[in-house]
Amino acid sequence: MKLDIDKLRAEAEKELRDAGVHEKLSAWYSKFLGKKGIVRNFLASISDLSPEEKKEMGKKINLLKSDLEKLYSDAFSLVSSIKKDSQITEFYKTLPGKRPEVGHLHLITQAIREIDAVFARLGFVRVRYPEVDWDYFAFEALNMPKAHPARDEWETFFVDLPEDPKMGKVVVTPHTSSGQVREMLKAELPIRMLNISRCGRRQIDLNHVPTFYQFEGLVIDRGISISHLKGVLEYLIHNFFGKDTKFRLRPYDFRFTEPSFEVDVTCGLCGGKGCRFCKGGWVELGGAGMVHPNVLKAGGIDPEVYSGFAFGWGVERVLMMRSGIKIDDIRLLFENNMKFLEQF
Ligand code: PHE
Repeated sequence: MKLDIDKLRAEAEKELRDAGVHEKLSAWYSKFLGKKGIVRNFLASISDLSPEEKKEMGKKINLLKSDLEKLYSDAFSLVSSIKKDSQITEFYKTLPGKRPEVGHLHLITQAIREIDAVFARLGFVRVRYPEVDWDYFAFEALNMPKAHPARDEWETFFVDLPEDPKMGKVVVTPHTSSGQVREMLKAELPIRMLNISRCGRRQIDLNHVPTFYQFEGLVIDRGISISHLKGVLEYLIHNFFGKDTKFRLRPYDFRFTEPSFEVDVTCGLCGGKGCRFCKGGWVELGGAGMVHPNVLKAGGIDPEVYSGFAFGWGVERVLMMRSGIKIDDIRLLFENNMKFLEQF
């Protein structure tokens, strides 16, 4: 047998180039480098040669062998890295699938839906009114005439649009109370309104952002009293914060309610004992009160016959006050940081 090493080398290299997949690579390996492969045959066949010839040929064959081995391992890693190989495909098929990520509703949307559901059980009807509205509905109809100092509290954004002689300027609604008179003008009595909407004020710190959400309840019927207001608030607080949460009405002053209250609940962090967060054991939730007769009049309702209550609270605020959530900076809710949002 004539041992043409160069020819074999050329042949092996060519075949290796054509073996683009793992099966072909292993066939190539068996053919050239396997136990019964050509290189071994070559080695076996030189046993009859003279010692010098044997030595020389042995060297050449071993060099060929190590070259081919190197070529093979390079080809193997190349093929593996481009993952074309059907063997690899088969292997991947057996791996567990990668689950597509499923998103979820934003924390605020979840809270809005929950608040909506609680009030729906009491027969409240969810409505929405413009997020950009006339000064008239935001202030004037709510017993706050133009230039009344109480307006300052609402840190209002004014929209650069022409003023209307009767309705005034255009504002970004600074509270959902702007829906009260709109509802009175539109809806039939009795009214059980739940207005959840986006509001805007010029403010930003740990507890305030320029854009936030409020939910506003408005009930108007014959004989509505503070007891009804308390009953509804208790229902909300017990459902949203839990039965152990106590609340109190603290006298306050809003131009559109009389009497007016601020509603406090026992602190969710310390259970009302008093801590660094709440100081005296109570935390303030939001405003409430009995609808002012002037507001009823603005809505075309006779205050001699009808009475009502209203309350307006921040969605984010009640969310942050819920025990167990422990969000200490309202701005986190608006940053769209996935690491934060994914936790809820
Ligand atoms: N609109 C008031 C606020 O934004 C809250 C409020 C609503 C108070 C309804 C009384 C009645 O602070």
